[in-house]
Amino acid sequence: MFTKKHIDHFSGIETPFYFYNLDLLKQTLSEIKRTAQPNYHIHYALKANAHPTLLEIIKSAGLGADCVSGNEVKRALECNFKNTDIAFAGVGKSDKEINFALDHSIFCFNVESVHELKVIDQLAKNKNKKANIALRINPNVDAYTHKYITTGLEENKFGINPYEFDAVLDVLKTLDNLNFTGLHFHIGSQINDLNPFKNLCLRANEINKWFIQKGYLLPHINLGGGLGIDYHQPDANAIVNFESYFGIFKQFLELNPIQQIHFELGRSVVAQCGNLISRVLYIKNGINTNFAILDAGMTELIRPALYQAYHKIENISKTGMPNITKYDVVGPICESSDCFGKAVEMPLTERGNLVAIRSAGAYGEVMSNRYNLREQVGSVFM
Ligand code: LLP
Repeated sequence: MFTKKHIDHFSGIETPFYFYNLDLLKQTLSEIKRTAQPNYHIHYALKANAHPTLLEIIKSAGLGADCVSGNEVKRALECNFKNTDIAFAGVGKSDKEINFALDHSIFCFNVESVHELKVIDQLAKNKNKKANIALRINPNVDAYTHKYITTGLEENKFGINPYEFDAVLDVLKTLDNLNFTGLHFHIGSQINDLNPFKNLCLRANEINKWFIQKGYLLPHINLGGGLGIDYHQPDANAIVNFESYFGIFKQFLELNPIQQIHFELGRSVVAQCGNLISRVLYIKNGINTNFAILDAGMTELIRPALYQAYHKIENISKTGMPNITKYDVVGPICESSDCFGKAVEMPLTERGNLVAIRSAGAYGEVMSNRYNLREQVGSVFM
């Protein structure tokens, strides 16, 4: 993936930085368009990466936006997503954020509790408006992923549980400033086995039927995001198999023909097009291990420290040379968790070499922070 052209291009740029391959992003978006059914509406989850350069490409490909803060709604609008293509989710929306979204008449609020329904209704009433809402349902479906990114189990803080449905409908009847337009589900992230999505379809069918029997044939059903990517083989599997993913929904989801199907994909859209590029500062030989100390750390990419996530690491100054040594690849931050990979096989690595940490386009730059007063990480596009 990295050629001499890249290395020459990078040589004058201060490290660390995020490098985005926009061709790969465009190819990924074409594949989504090719494999989605005509009644599928894909909202891109801005939380994965909200860089305007990426958002403009994603918007031009016809995707909508899935936002989880007022500032994400604002960013989506600034990048020309239509208000009617913007969904606003999140378990703790503030009044200021709700008011902002109401002012822009967004497509839908995904509501997570009875209490939140009442607050949105009141805020809409103050503005003499009606808010479109979907109920975020906790379907109690296991996503079999890291516990920090599992969201669809009863023990998680997200969504409304089925035992609350009757009470929710009673409350909804009293709230005149809400349009009840849909159901929303999201079971977790980085899901590589498609079975949890099949289970989600089966649960969504049951729940949707329950609402239809109660007289609510809702225009939209949102199945969330969560499709995982291959962190181990970013080149061989640069684009996720969207055909099999959408195929599961085509096969198992049984909705009324008037119901539109929505998805909120984040990681599978942008992860593989982004890489964190860093330079080796020092090599330190230990008794049992050698350390390659980079100028990027957990401040630029927190996923390994927070979720014990694997990212492929490559010395791109030595592409094509045999891997002869193992290094613990670490950052400069004063925390032992500031480690990108242990016993990583690489060619003989030297000060000044460029190292790429792959598959970092999703939940990389957006989760970066300025701990230790480090510089805000920059980004480069090609
Ligand atoms: N919809 C909802 C309601 C979500 O909570 C999420 C992600 C998505 C959609 C998009 O999911 P995706 O397609 O990207 O899996 N920082 C973690 C991931 C957190 C995911 C949070 N929710 C990580 O680095 O792995």
